[in-house]
Amino acid sequence: MTATTAKIREHYSSTGLTGRIKSALAMIAPEDQMLTVAQLAQLDQFHTRGILATTELAEAAGLEPSTRVLDLGCGLGGPARYLAATFGCKVTGVDLSPSFIDTATYLTARCGLSDRVTFQVSNALHLPFEDAAFDTVFLQHVAMNIEDRTALYAEVRRILTPGGRFATYDLVLRDGDVVYPTPWARDGSTSFLLGESDTRTALEQAGFNAVLWRDDTQTALDWFRAAMAGAPPNGLNLGLVMGPYFTAMTRNLARNIRENRLGVLSAVMTRG
Ligand SMILES: C[S@@+](CC[C@H](N)C(=O)[O-])C[C@H]1O[C@@H](n2cnc3c(N)ncnc32)[C@H](O)[C@@H]1O
Repeated sequence: MTATTAKIREHYSSTGLTGRIKSALAMIAPEDQMLTVAQLAQLDQFHTRGILATTELAEAAGLEPSTRVLDLGCGLGGPARYLAATFGCKVTGVDLSPSFIDTATYLTARCGLSDRVTFQVSNALHLPFEDAAFDTVFLQHVAMNIEDRTALYAEVRRILTPGGRFATYDLVLRDGDVVYPTPWARDGSTSFLLGESDTRTALEQAGFNAVLWRDDTQTALDWFRAAMAGAPPNGLNLGLVMGPYFTAMTRNLARNIRENRLGVLSAVMTRG
């Protein structure tokens, strides 16, 4: 593992995370009571617009019960559980962070989805899967932590079936310097944002063709405005995972979007 990858893993490491989440969940339901995907959505959808964005991207990707899905950089597994619960498909989640994978596995058992959703620790650049093992790959708010996009997109292409789909929802660089800390990086040393047109070029050069290419920046801004004007989230939220600076990180993300330093992009590509 490179020093940069170790630093990124450290950013997403959270000591005693599953235990803290267990205690927080005790306020909602006893340990032997099944939880729903919706009950966890404030906690486990680690990207701009939360479960709304996952819902839209999943619809655009067109999943069926037989679709074999990989959620790359799956975080706490919220999107993977949503996909399995909504479409009846099997989902594999991989993530660099062992503590996130531990929590994802626990939350999946609490939702009664362990037969359809499984997780493992892995680096997105070196996936432990055979060629063409998946029909659809999801990548939400992960690419900004990955410097070598050529290697990332080549690895996604390798594990997809011909004609398979790559659904991605990410931040793109616009004008001016990004203000840190953000939810994905304390400073620029672990942040590898690309502009929209460079992202498209990298994807096309890797052998993908766009079936959806949508600028979601304004939708994201509207969502941040409403979220900041509304009541603060209850105890079950990403602050529990990322610590006391998470509110400041999220404010910086909203500011970067508002000041046109960052944009938000949704895309669904087919593997050529
Ligand atoms: C902002 S979170 C998004 C999590 C999830 N996709 C979601 O939307 O809820 C970014 C995730 O990417 C993971 N990640 C970053 N670099 C990675 C890599 N090289 N390989 C695998 N996962 C990575 C992090 O550990 C973290 O869980």
